[in-house]
Amino acid sequence: MELRYRTPSGMSCLYLPRCAFPRSGRDAWRKKKQVETILTLLCSRLKPGDTVVDCGCGRGTLTTALAVSSPSCDVLGFDIKEFETWTELERYVESVGLDNLEFEVNDLHETAKYGLPDDPDVIVGLHLCGTLTDRLLKLAVNSDAHFVLVVPCCYGRASPRVIVEELGVDEGIERVREVLKRAESSVEYQLEVCRMRGKFLEEHGYQVHVGVAFPEEISGRRVFLMGIT
Ligand SMILES: C[S@@+](CC[C@H](N)C(=O)[O-])C[C@H]1O[C@@H](n2cnc3c(N)ncnc32)[C@H](O)[C@@H]1O
Repeated sequence: MELRYRTPSGMSCLYLPRCAFPRSGRDAWRKKKQVETILTLLCSRLKPGDTVVDCGCGRGTLTTALAVSSPSCDVLGFDIKEFETWTELERYVESVGLDNLEFEVNDLHETAKYGLPDDPDVIVGLHLCGTLTDRLLKLAVNSDAHFVLVVPCCYGRASPRVIVEELGVDEGIERVREVLKRAESSVEYQLEVCRMRGKFLEEHGYQVHVGVAFPEEISGRRVFLMGIT
């Protein structure tokens, strides 16, 4: 599977190596579509020189796509475990004349508390499970990031009560509980949970947008939360 990007800076088209995608053709297609959507939401917000961090980056598909489509930004992907694709993707980026991609092992629970050595300007996370989303929001606030974008997943692992404990916001919790009674994984539920999480960002001066990122065939975890200062 090849992934074609037209970069904002006018570079023509770049391709990601096969290893950037899951083995199954269907899953690879879905990941490609997810990444394209995130790039669309993100790229126009990036400023030259921004440091962009992809938290829980997994094999590094989005991280690498960000690096090649935003050559004037430094992109770091980190995950709790190392992925064998990272070396090949770093080499690929070098082979197209760029030096702006790095991967490292790191724990989002720790970085949310202690930060990263250099404060990132932009923080993203695609399909972050349970409370990892809440930790990403804390990292964004603690780092004074000007832009944050996350698509949460595994909603069952972060109940409304847990989110209140994590973020200290309870506005909207009754609405979340009401929707939860009907269908835990519904888009309606995902939207309400993201709105509730968004209150945390609002309290810290962000303008918040919540919306549906993907159609069902691209992903069951479909809602994004965006914060801009
Ligand atoms: C559902 S995967 C999403 C991967 C990638 N963002 C993507 O969309 O392809 C969630 C990722 O979070 C990582 N993860 C789990 N706990 C973590 C932690 N405490 N700190 C950093 N990453 C973590 C997992 O290893 C996994 O790669």
